[in-house]
Amino acid sequence: MTRHFLALHDYTKSELDALLALAADLKDKLKRGIQHRHLGGKTVALIFEKASTRTRVSFEVGVFQLGGHGLFISSANSQMGRGEPIKDSARVMSRYCDGIMIRTFGQEIVDEFAKYSDVPVINGLTDLFHPCQIMADLQTVIEHKKGYEGLKFAWVGDGNNMANTWIEAAAIFGFELRLACPVGYEPDLRIMAWAKAKAPGLISLTNDPRVAVAGADVINTDVWASMGQEAEQKEREKVFVGYCLNDTLLAYAKPDAIVLHCLPAHRGEEISDSVIEGKNSVVWDEAENRLHIQKAIMVTLIK
Ligand code: CP
Ligand code: NVA
Repeated sequence: MTRHFLALHDYTKSELDALLALAADLKDKLKRGIQHRHLGGKTVALIFEKASTRTRVSFEVGVFQLGGHGLFISSANSQMGRGEPIKDSARVMSRYCDGIMIRTFGQEIVDEFAKYSDVPVINGLTDLFHPCQIMADLQTVIEHKKGYEGLKFAWVGDGNNMANTWIEAAAIFGFELRLACPVGYEPDLRIMAWAKAKAPGLISLTNDPRVAVAGADVINTDVWASMGQEAEQKEREKVFVGYCLNDTLLAYAKPDAIVLHCLPAHRGEEISDSVIEGKNSVVWDEAENRLHIQKAIMVTLIK
């Protein structure tokens, strides 16, 4: 059966740990100039229905480093953008390609694509999840904190695709996660219920960012308006006052806490310039690790 990478909940902790270990190994090999040509002669389609810098570049570079060809497809310039059914696009593309990454809107689109694809499909972000990013984030945590066990994670901001994926990660990996979100901007209720049932006592939600950040080892935030929510930007700027990860808020965390942000960042909104540029920030390592973890995912899935 073809294995996809659509959501963390499709994987066990040991499978995800294995991906993280492989990512660390591939990173080490790359730094030492050792080639790993697992995708020699293979093509991976990279389909984008939303904008991207990191996801596009890290996948294209990653496929190239593995000896394969990354095929960028903007939905706007393909028949997908003119309404060709997802199931038809999936069956056609999987006849040509050995793997498919897709960034789109609804999670049901990647689910449908995977259902009709004969080759592995990787979720490069939906409105619901961003699993490649959270795996890169965990690789970064492991590098800076020598592991994730026993650490306290905090989320400050919108209950968006990143927050939802962190909730799944907390339940699967078994670490404490405290989220602070404004009323009406909470994470997906079904995901929260699933995670709380899987890992009782580990995940909590508050409206006070100080409560979430108090004593935290890892603090994560993201934009207040995600892609597709641009029209809500002004309204959200009012709602999210008090949710800026600035030096005052960071002072509630452990002194050696690390700060994550998937980027792109809006300085002065969800994060201050001083924090993203400060000594606790590991956002550039985090961005780099997209490359390594995605290579690990492709090496594992694409046969
Ligand atoms: N973090 C992330 O996914 O960035 P891009 O939107 O630039 O791909
Ligand atoms: N939550 C953001 C993440 C961007 C990488 C969005 O979906 O736009």
